[in-house]
Order: sequence, then C-alpha cells, then structure tokens
Amino acid sequence: MPIEWLGNRVKILDQTRLPQEEVYLELDRYQDIASAIVELKIRGAPAIGVAGAYAVALGALKIEARSKREFLEKLQSVTKAIASTRPTARNLFRAIERMEQAAKSAKSVEDIKAALVSEAIKIHTEEAEATRKLSQLGAELIRDGFTILTHCNTGPLATTGYGTALGVIIYAKEQGKKIKVLATETRPLLQGARLTTWELKRAKIPVTLITDSMAGYFMSRGEVDCVIVGADRIAANGDTANKIGTYTLAVLAKENGIPFYVAAPTSTIDLSLASGKEIPIEQRSAAEVTYFQKVCIAPENCEAANPAFDVTPHRYITAIITEKGIIREPYGEGMSKLK
Ligand code: MRU
Repeated sequence: MPIEWLGNRVKILDQTRLPQEEVYLELDRYQDIASAIVELKIRGAPAIGVAGAYAVALGALKIEARSKREFLEKLQSVTKAIASTRPTARNLFRAIERMEQAAKSAKSVEDIKAALVSEAIKIHTEEAEATRKLSQLGAELIRDGFTILTHCNTGPLATTGYGTALGVIIYAKEQGKKIKVLATETRPLLQGARLTTWELKRAKIPVTLITDSMAGYFMSRGEVDCVIVGADRIAANGDTANKIGTYTLAVLAKENGIPFYVAAPTSTIDLSLASGKEIPIEQRSAAEVTYFQKVCIAPENCEAANPAFDVTPHRYITAIITEKGIIREPYGEGMSKLK
C-alpha cells in the first residue's frame, strides 16, 4: 500500500527508490510529508491529495491552543506549507479545502482534531473508491486485443487506490481481455520506466517500455489502438494538465486517428478555471533535466527548462473517464453535471 494511516503517523512507500528497492518510511511530522511530496516520494495527483490530507491531520494533532480561533489560526500555517508543495494537482487543494471545512464545522479543539483525522481517512477511502469505479467504467472502452499507450505513472502508487489510466488497463485485464501496453519512459524523472513497468509486471500485463520520442513511430505504424493518460487538473472546458509530454501524445494520436482518453476522479476537476490557460504549471529544478539518475549528461552550468506538466486542449480528447460517468464534447456541459 503506497500510503497508510497508522493513527499518529503515516507510512509511505518511497517511490524514488523503486524499482530497485521497496523502502517504507514512517512520518509523523507534516513538514516531512510536505518534503516527501516535493521530492516525489509520494506523487500522482490523487496520492498527493491523500498525503496532503494526512499531513494536515498530523499537523493538527500537534497544535496546542486554548480556543477554536487560536487553533484555526495555527492550522493556517500548516495548510499553507502543504499547499505550497506542488501547484498543479487539483486533488491537493480540494483535500486541503475539505480539511479546512471540517475544522471549521467542529466545536472544541479536541473535536476539531478528531474531525480532521476522520476527514483525512474519508478522503483516502473516497479517492480509492472513485478510482475503482472509474476504472470499471473506463474498461468498457478497451477491446480484447488492444495495445494501449500510456504515459507517466497512474496506477495504485499514484492514487493509493486502483489507478486512473492504469486502473482502466488493470480492470480490462481482470475482465479477461488480452491487452498489451506501451509505456513511455517519461523523462525527466522516469515515472513510466521505473513505476508503470513495475506495476504492470506485478499485474501480469505485457508491457513494452519505449522512450517518449518513440510514440509517433508506433502510432504511425498502426500499432496503438488507444492512448489513456491520467490528469493533474481538468479545467471547466475539459482542457487537461498532465505530465509533460501528454500534449505531444494527444496531437500525435489525433493525427493518426487514435482515440485519446483521459481518466481522472472528479476531485481532479477544477470548475473555477474556465480553460487550461489558467492552470498553474509547476516548474521544477533544471538539475532533473541535466542529470539522468545522478549522472550529469550536459555541460557544466548548461541551462535547462523543466515544466512538470503541459496542457492538452479539450479538442484532442476523445473522452474523459470519471467515477461518475464518461463524458465527451461538449465537455463544459458534461462536466458541470458531474460535480
Ligand atoms: O509529477 P508526477 O509524477 O506527480 O505526475 C503524475 C502525473 O502526471 C499523473 O499522470 C497524474 O498525476 C495522474 S495520476 C493518477
């Protein structure tokens, strides 16, 4: 299990050590969970949301306050630190909003602490259940014999549940469909090469690892039946932010007449943003690009750009798979009915 609540601490599987080592960490300070999110020890939009909620609960348990007002003031510095870890995943902010709401609704300081722990557990359970449901719904789009191309890592590690894009793939396999996966390595941090292949091997689903730049080759030869990816934030018009490289895959899929699906729980949808232009995109350290697994691959002081996500305009998306249904154009209409 990638994230587990142990009553007064959180156990996480350190995703930066996979696939070489399966190392679990037990963290009891919210600051350590915040660092684990920044360092991608915990990653993937739904998992970031769940970890963020547990971090708020841990921070709250340690607050000493004589009144509800004093408690809520101190809680603000906890939520602020957690909110500043990664800006793109909507699930993190949705989780923090829910935690703040739960704190405001409770009466005494002790009640608030209990309410925050139970709200975090509820968020975890609901995220996991949402990914199971969307995987089941999405599996209907997968036919026997399909080769599916996916990007980044969107399985149980990224969701603490079934998975989003990978959940759909795993569910289709459980239905008895014979499927194959092409997994992109996902430069610069190799979530596809390290994590997706690891999860698919455990699920006994045939997987071939390709570099990101090979996707067009396979699509143009008719060797891809559909593309499924996850999402970090979906704007009200269906524009979708996901791991850098997703937009390229979507354009290539359209050019080659291949369906392009996005799978995400509704907690990833942000109706407050009219379009993808408003989605904040995380910029990460240049060293993640100039280094490949701790080996420097560029001249010293070489400048490098490292946007962690890009935005795929909704016109490239064949359908968005959520736990409440599969929606297609016009997305604006479909999406407002889901929330
Ligand atoms: O930077 P990461 O590894 O957190 O990025 C993860 C992705 O882009 C996933 O596709 C997205 O969070 C959906 S995961 C279910």
